[in-house]
Amino acid sequence: MTTRARAVETTGSAADFLPARRTLPSLRRAAAGCRGCHLWKVGTQTVFGEGARSATLMFVGEQPGDQEDRAGHPFVGPSGRLLDSALERAGLDRGEAYVTNAVKHFKWVPDGSGKRRIHKTPSSSEVRACHPWLDEEIAIVKPRAIVALGATAAKALFGPTVRVTVQHGKVIRTPLAEAGFATVHPSSILRAPSDVRAGAERAFVEDLKKVAKWLRK
Ligand code: URA
Ligand code: SF4
Repeated sequence: MTTRARAVETTGSAADFLPARRTLPSLRRAAAGCRGCHLWKVGTQTVFGEGARSATLMFVGEQPGDQEDRAGHPFVGPSGRLLDSALERAGLDRGEAYVTNAVKHFKWVPDGSGKRRIHKTPSSSEVRACHPWLDEEIAIVKPRAIVALGATAAKALFGPTVRVTVQHGKVIRTPLAEAGFATVHPSSILRAPSDVRAGAERAFVEDLKKVAKWLRK
């Protein structure tokens, strides 16, 4: 990467776009015009979090995927369907949760044929630039528990030393809520080889059951 490209990637922050009066609707409107990092030019639109202001549980993914980018809603594609079915199996209701992402624009590169958009993991500077939106969502919703889906969200929420493979399904102490949790990203299950996929999905549901149990305490 050239020095100039790097400068473009690391300059700016969503903080410059926060509205004076902060409610979920005003934040959503402001985020739609965010240019806090270069990803506003890469994705089609800002995909803000969704759910009730009174939600006791918040799920944080990495970034919108291809379908989310087109629809403008989080977790509505294949990962979202897997999340929905796992939530149901764990006895959790998506309708009672707030669902969002660490980064609000879809980062992608074209595949060889130019027909498909291939997801690219956001850089730490992009996650940092977008963090003000997540901070504001947490400050307004004040969930009892926050669940990171995958390593990008876990690091964004709980810091760089968190290890999903070790800490999944366990309470992570955080100033952000009464409890933090981390588990895998549903897309990692979709990508898993078929012989381990069912096991990975079961483990995901087990992690979510621990969250459900903690919420009932
Ligand atoms: N993956 C994510 O992390 N978030 C979405 O909204 C969809 C897929
Ligand atoms: Fe703003 Fe986040 Fe989109 Fe970057 S990814 S432009 S910080 S909303």
